[in-house]
Amino acid sequence: MADVTSTWTEPSNTPLSLLLLGKGTDPASERGVDCPGDLPAPSDPDLVARATAAKAALGDRVFVLGHHYQRDEVIQFADVTGDSFKLAQQAAARPSAEFIVFCGVHFMAESADILTKPDQKVILPDLAAGCSMADMAVLGQVETAWEHFQDLGITDQIVPVTYMNSSADIKGFVGRNKGVVCTSSNAKRALDWSFEQGSKVFFLPDQHLGRNTAVLEMGFDLDDCVLYDPHKPHGGLTDEQLTNARMILWRGHCSVHGRFTLDSVREVRERVPGVNVLVHPECRHDVVKAADYVGSTEYIIKALDAAPSGSAWAVGTELNLVRRLALAHPDKQIMFLDRTVCYCSTMNRIDLPHLVWALEELVAGRVPNVITVDEKTAHEARVALDQMLALP
Ligand code: 13P
Ligand code: SF4
Repeated sequence: MADVTSTWTEPSNTPLSLLLLGKGTDPASERGVDCPGDLPAPSDPDLVARATAAKAALGDRVFVLGHHYQRDEVIQFADVTGDSFKLAQQAAARPSAEFIVFCGVHFMAESADILTKPDQKVILPDLAAGCSMADMAVLGQVETAWEHFQDLGITDQIVPVTYMNSSADIKGFVGRNKGVVCTSSNAKRALDWSFEQGSKVFFLPDQHLGRNTAVLEMGFDLDDCVLYDPHKPHGGLTDEQLTNARMILWRGHCSVHGRFTLDSVREVRERVPGVNVLVHPECRHDVVKAADYVGSTEYIIKALDAAPSGSAWAVGTELNLVRRLALAHPDKQIMFLDRTVCYCSTMNRIDLPHLVWALEELVAGRVPNVITVDEKTAHEARVALDQMLALP
C-alpha cells in the first residue's frame, strides 16, 4: 500500500497573522467566544473516548452534521458530512432527532433551525463560529438598497437571491420579496428560475458566486453585472447603471476563497505540467476563469474521487478539505492551490473540546448554545429556503 502522505505537501504558514479570535484583538467579531461551563483541555488524551461515550449515551436523540471544512478531529464524529446544501437537506430529513449538533458555522445552524421541527434543538458547539461573508450583508443596508430600487421603480423586475451563506434575516428579506436561497451546488438553477420570474437579480452577499454563475455558466457579459457597495450612497452606482443591469451584485466575498489569485494558478501550471486546476465558485472571477473545473465542495469531492490514478490536481478551497482529500487519494497528486495556509478560522472554532463539551452537556440534561430564529423571520426565510429545495 502506498504511503498515504507521499504526495501531500503542507502549505507554509501564512505571512499575515489571521484574526486571533478569543485574544481580545477584535471584540466586535468575538461574539460568544466565552464558552459557558468547563471546556476540556485540548491536550486531554481522553477526548476521543469522551466524545464516543457521550454520543453513544445519546443514541438516536442526537444527530451530528459536519461541513466539509471542519477539522478531521470533529468530522470523525459526524453522522453526515456535506456542503451547505446537503446539510440543509439532511437537517430537514431528521424529524426524529431531538438534538442536531451542527459542526459548521452560524448561518448553517440557523438554516437547520428553520428547516427542523419546533421541538428539535439545533446546537452550535462554539457560538463564535460565524462567517465573515454572511456578516457583510446587514439587513438595514439591504433594506436601504431595496428602498432605492423602489424609488427607481425597478423592484417589480428584480428577484432577490441570497446565497445560503447569509444570516436568517437576509433570507427572510428574500422570502418576503419573492426570491430564493441558493448554494454553490444550485446557483445556476436558482438564477434560471429567477430569470423566469423577472428580468433582474439582486444577488447577496457573494459577488463572486453571482458573477461567476452569471458570466461563466449563463453567458452573461461582465457589463451585465454591477457591484453594489453598501458603504457608498446608492451603492456607488448611477440610476442608469442600476436600471440597465441584469445582475446587481452585493459587495461581499469569502475571505478564505478570496485569497487564491491568478498568480497561484500560473505558478502551479508552471511547476506541475498537466495539472488540473479545480476551484470553488467563491473564488475571484479571474481565478475561476483560469481554472479547468469549478464547483461546490461536493462537486470537488466527486471530481477527485472520479479522477484517474496518477493525475495531478491543484485545489482552491479550504485547507482542511483539501488535505483530507489528498490523504484519501494517495495515488493522485492533490495539492493546495496556494503556497500558504488558508483555513476558515471560524469553521476551525469548532474543535474536539467544544464538541465534547456540547455532547456531555446534553448527556447531563443541559442544552447548550441553542440557535433559534424568531418565528416571523423563520417563516419568511423558510419560504425562500423551500423555494430552493423545490428548484427543478
Ligand atoms: P458550500 O458548502 O456550498 O460548498 O460552500 C462553501 C462555504 O464556504 C461554506 O461556508
Ligand atoms: Fe464564510 Fe468563507 Fe468561512 Fe465559508 S469559508 S464560512 S464563506 S468565511
